[in-house]
Amino acid sequence: MSRTRVAILISGRGSNMAALIEAAKRADYPAEIVLVLSNNPDAVGLVRAREAGIATAIVDHKPYGKDRDAFERALQGELAARQIEIVCLAGFMRLFTPGFVQKWQGRMLNIHPSLLPSFKGLDPHGQALAAGVKLHGATVHFVVPEMDSGPIVAQVAVPVLEEDTPETLATRVLAAEHRIYPLALRLVAEDRVHIVDGRCAIDGARFAEFGMANPTG
Ligand code: GRF
Repeated sequence: MSRTRVAILISGRGSNMAALIEAAKRADYPAEIVLVLSNNPDAVGLVRAREAGIATAIVDHKPYGKDRDAFERALQGELAARQIEIVCLAGFMRLFTPGFVQKWQGRMLNIHPSLLPSFKGLDPHGQALAAGVKLHGATVHFVVPEMDSGPIVAQVAVPVLEEDTPETLATRVLAAEHRIYPLALRLVAEDRVHIVDGRCAIDGARFAEFGMANPTG
């Protein structure tokens, strides 16, 4: 079986990256994590990736200053050198130009810790608590030029508890993120996700082996 070649882009601790690497260890997983790339040379996730035996690369954005095109050309060089087919953003804290997004249209995923389209941007957990929602969660979506938007591949819901703080809620959502991202990547790598009129149609999506995640694959 030829497996889809995936790069994970990180800026920090890389717990979603670790979940994807773990999932891809299974022989029947349709994607292979070929590269972990960070814009932050000090990202803890880089250490975790190396420990897992995954190739890493650093493209520090700082020397490029405001020249985002040059930064993205350097990124693209690393991705092309390893014949990457799908990019997974996992806590990657840089915004891309529309040109770069276009180049990876339908082949770049992101995870955001809210049930999009609610609570885009910073502090989604604080936003959720302020809004008083009783269910919160996480979303894996294809990347489009607008931040935290784009066709939704998979979502998972978690309850909001009366005593939650942004931190306790973030911890509960993060555990759910680690389930949903490997699932979403699997669906995409199996070529079961089709973007129709800006929405994802998923071949053979079934409902719920593990609670409130949709779909389960
Ligand atoms: C996650 O909550 C992810 O949803 C958000 O940034 C955080 C990254 O955490 N985009 P980690 O680096 O994967 O641990």
